[in-house]
Amino acid sequence: MTVLDTRSAAAPLPVEAIRAPRPRHYLMCTPSHFEVAYAINPWMDVTVPVDVDRARLQWEVLRTTYLSLGHRVDLIDPLSGQPDMVFAANGGLVIGGRAYGAKFRHPERAAEGGAYAAWLTANGYRVTEPGRTNEGEGDFLALGSMILAGTGFRTSLAAHIEAADALDRPVVSLELVDPRFYHLDVAIAILDDGNGQAPADIAYFPGAFSRHSQRTLRDLFPDAIICSEADALVLGLNAVSDGHHVVLPTAATELAASLRDRGYTPVPVDLGEFIKSGGSVKCCTMEMHR
Ligand code: ARG
Repeated sequence: MTVLDTRSAAAPLPVEAIRAPRPRHYLMCTPSHFEVAYAINPWMDVTVPVDVDRARLQWEVLRTTYLSLGHRVDLIDPLSGQPDMVFAANGGLVIGGRAYGAKFRHPERAAEGGAYAAWLTANGYRVTEPGRTNEGEGDFLALGSMILAGTGFRTSLAAHIEAADALDRPVVSLELVDPRFYHLDVAIAILDDGNGQAPADIAYFPGAFSRHSQRTLRDLFPDAIICSEADALVLGLNAVSDGHHVVLPTAATELAASLRDRGYTPVPVDLGEFIKSGGSVKCCTMEMHR
């Protein structure tokens, strides 16, 4: 049996009782140099100004939200000339003391790969240097004993195999087909990673995926929350869950209601300045998975 249904035989607990938070360890990057200086996804428009003070404030609220929920937040120093480095999720994939480094698709972000790898190495993680193009947790989501991996816009299929090897975990490849949802973490939210009392649980927007990947998701997660296009378009799925609290963009109101129905506590935060770059909550957050 897979991690997805090992608990089905156990005596059913009320859902509120099993949606327990687990303390997490995150890495974030101060948005000191954040701006939209180039356009590498459909959200980015260099003619739309970013309010940098507001961005800084929104990011600070996200950081303190994590702290108030009892999580640990480490910080990496931002590099000047790397406006997207605030999107820490893209810096690698860390599971159980090991890390698979990032190798960015676009030259504009290339320097971030080495910066994140250096931080991870200095902080005791064994980093596998990537040979293949991949954008870390932007396209790799740790779930139970496996990794959900996106491809189509940024991360190459070859990197899926490299990640599986580097982290010794099976990978499920999923094909993204809508350029607005160019990373897996804007198309799927991990609500419960399945490593606690409750089974793995996700929310996703089917329209972001090819037909066969929609089928894969249906087969693996028949009970998933189906996110509306409207909520996906405010990057509602770019959320971070500790198993109970789901930190998500304020505008994703329908998704928040579905989460509440399922025993989660939605924690809305406004990251409106970062949407101008195609990012939100999860993009700003790398999780050091156990
Ligand atoms: N402007 C950034 C890019 O296009 C946004 C990255 C968002 N990160 C994420 N994990 N989805 O690369």
